[in-house]
Amino acid sequence: MTEIIRTDIGYDDGDVDTNRSTGPSLNDLIDQRYSRRETLRSGVGAMAMAVFGSTALAACDNNDDDNGTGNPPPTVSATASPATATAGTLVTVTGTATDDGSVTATTFTQVSGPVVSLSATTGTSTTFVAPAVSSTTSVAIRFAATDNSGNTSSADAIVSVSAAKLSFTAVAKNKNDVVTVPAGYTVGVLYRTGDPITADTAAYKNDGTDTGFANRAGDHHDAMHWFGLASDGSRDDQSSTRGLLAMNHENINQAYLHVNGPTSPGGARPESEAIKEIEAHGVSVVEVTKSSAGWGYVQASSYNRRVTPNTPVVFNGPVKGSSLIQTAFSTDGSQGRGTLNNCANGYTQWGTLLTCEENWAGYFRRPAAADNPRRSAKEVTALTRYGVTSSSGNFGWATVAPADGSNTSYRRFDAQATGGSATTDFRNEPNQFGWVVEIDPYDKSKTPRKRTALGRMNHEGCWPSPFVAGVKPAFYMGDDAVNEYLYKFVSATAWVAADATNADRLAMGDKYLDSGTLYVAQFKADGTGTWLPLTFGTAPLTSANTTYPFADQADVLTHARLAGDALAATKMDRPEWTAVNPATGEVYLTLTNNSTRTPANADAANPRAYKDPPSTSIGNRNGHIIRLREASNSSEATTFTWDIYLFGAGQDLDPANINVSGLTSDNDFSSPDGCWFSRNSNVAGQATPLLWIQTDDSAYLDVTNCMMLAAIPGIVGDGGDAANKTIVNTNADGTTVSVATKVGKAPGTNLKRFLVGPLEAEITGVDTTPDGRTMFVNIQHPGENGNTTNITSHWPANQATGSDPSNSRPRSATIVIQRTDGGVIGL
Ligand code: FEO
Ligand code: CA
Ligand code: CA
Ligand code: CA
Repeated sequence: MTEIIRTDIGYDDGDVDTNRSTGPSLNDLIDQRYSRRETLRSGVGAMAMAVFGSTALAACDNNDDDNGTGNPPPTVSATASPATATAGTLVTVTGTATDDGSVTATTFTQVSGPVVSLSATTGTSTTFVAPAVSSTTSVAIRFAATDNSGNTSSADAIVSVSAAKLSFTAVAKNKNDVVTVPAGYTVGVLYRTGDPITADTAAYKNDGTDTGFANRAGDHHDAMHWFGLASDGSRDDQSSTRGLLAMNHENINQAYLHVNGPTSPGGARPESEAIKEIEAHGVSVVEVTKSSAGWGYVQASSYNRRVTPNTPVVFNGPVKGSSLIQTAFSTDGSQGRGTLNNCANGYTQWGTLLTCEENWAGYFRRPAAADNPRRSAKEVTALTRYGVTSSSGNFGWATVAPADGSNTSYRRFDAQATGGSATTDFRNEPNQFGWVVEIDPYDKSKTPRKRTALGRMNHEGCWPSPFVAGVKPAFYMGDDAVNEYLYKFVSATAWVAADATNADRLAMGDKYLDSGTLYVAQFKADGTGTWLPLTFGTAPLTSANTTYPFADQADVLTHARLAGDALAATKMDRPEWTAVNPATGEVYLTLTNNSTRTPANADAANPRAYKDPPSTSIGNRNGHIIRLREASNSSEATTFTWDIYLFGAGQDLDPANINVSGLTSDNDFSSPDGCWFSRNSNVAGQATPLLWIQTDDSAYLDVTNCMMLAAIPGIVGDGGDAANKTIVNTNADGTTVSVATKVGKAPGTNLKRFLVGPLEAEITGVDTTPDGRTMFVNIQHPGENGNTTNITSHWPANQATGSDPSNSRPRSATIVIQRTDGGVIGL
């Protein structure tokens, strides 16, 4: 529908105001709500909702006026394609203008509806992304043309916009050795294991001879966050063409890092191999840019940085200086070396990365039978609870010569109490890991800080609540191991908006992350829950506790799991990533699976224990996603309500008790791990934000490789009456046990498979540019079950053509996903 409107207001997109009427004109009113220069300039997105009434529109239906020249104004029309659109759709507005003389200027201006950014504007067309709406809303774009006598006419193109939907066609499950994305999308490979990140580092040969990983991309790309850069190199949170990708390198495919795999994997390790393995862990910060040639990383960028297990770090917060983290390297317990097994992440409003140390325990050699007698009963309790019991350490790094252990960068991976005291050996080195680490991605001269107030565990992610001025922010954290807990940290300090742009970013971390309250979650069967504070001094967190006599707050934080046990926190099905819906503040937690869940110990929050053939094991085989809403929607709340948003399952499993979410071939999945909501700087993260779900699976690999799905979830409690569900679990002997739980509305078509990865890969880590038009995804450990004589994946060398005649070794990598039409990913 278009409306021809003529006006006597000579209007252009400069600063000249030629309105000769008195009182507010329509253009004045428009200017108040749609800053003229803002709406005409592409790429500037004010996101306020501003709706212009139809009454105001009618006011501009002025009479013809030839300006006294005898020269009629142009005849104009404007049309929108499509005229009805869902949020996120690319809309093109086309204007036509004819005149008896000549048309000298044309403009496009928004005159009603939620504010949009007009881009790719020419004399006859402009485009915009249909804005986020919760219900159907009109957007009007006015096309105006001026003739050679200064007469102007205009016409409005009206677009009816309805709520977002997933516009792509679901990707079929498959076991191909490439990344598959929907029709209309492209995949590029951006940043692979071993890629050089300094000017003088050699290209990666990928044959096991490469060295110098402190100047290369690490292995096992994991969680990732985009930090925008302006053209002058300063921080720019809105930049979508230049930025820093900060990503974790969780682990290694040891077999492919060396010429013929590791030598003497069970004996003394050569230093040349150990240093590669160590430096391939940690974090990358790498500059990436979009040019006319597409996306690429900048090998010689001065921002590029590797944080490895050898990078100096400092401790902050209540555990700093504690005897629990004193070692021969840091006798005062204030410093450490590096970060290890970094899995999921978080970010802060002040522009820093929060990287999380997950499965660190296994890297240390501490044969329990030999070492336990050297330890106090308390130490044995703690070391056992955290699983610091490996007889060799994952990769045997502690065996690197010299045998006298004088090179402590290797010696420290032996955590036995063999010295005279904790400050003469590395018995406490494991206590230096398991923390959230804050890194300033914009300044590589800054030493990373371990934020001990957030507790020590198998830290998965650390995702923040929305930052609200005057309210203490919260950070939500899973502890990924079977039957572990969900935590949140609430800062002691209420948010001050101006701190978002403070130049000393790590000082802001000191302000908000070094003191506060760590809580652990208890889920109740009635759909409510409680956050229990891990605060020393109140029973049971006192020295009178007979299971583990806590000494002080540093002891509570270092041994958060023991504190959670004492408080009777709810044992969950492996808490992986957390994500926070930017529109509602609701918190989503992936519970990936639990091989020890049984019908006998299933509970409301972890209600399924079943078989998924061909396996005959009983457990939570496919995982689920639970979500919670804080009381009064406050990050400071100590109670919440919850339901289960989604159950993983194969489409053919029992719809009553296993495939409870009614998954189909378009969206069935297993073992949710990574989860992330689209950024609210673009339409995909507004009104009804998209949730992205990534899998790290072993139960459904007989059918499909791991995958990523997109969802548009509702809210806690949207299951209505059907939310009260009873799941019947069956024991091996055929007897059954029923569990009552709370289940959200089934996802239906608001959940679709978006991507399937290559062979033996986990999909993990996702972010987009702020405009939502470029997505970065990490592909971790393709071909992880192979070795140099049996290479089981050739990804990513085979991505472009589907084959790889050169028989390349696989590499973890960051991929770039874009739409061929340039639109917002997913919508
Ligand atoms: Fe590193 Fe729990 O995934
Ligand atoms: Ca004319
Ligand atoms: Ca993972
Ligand atoms: Ca996992």
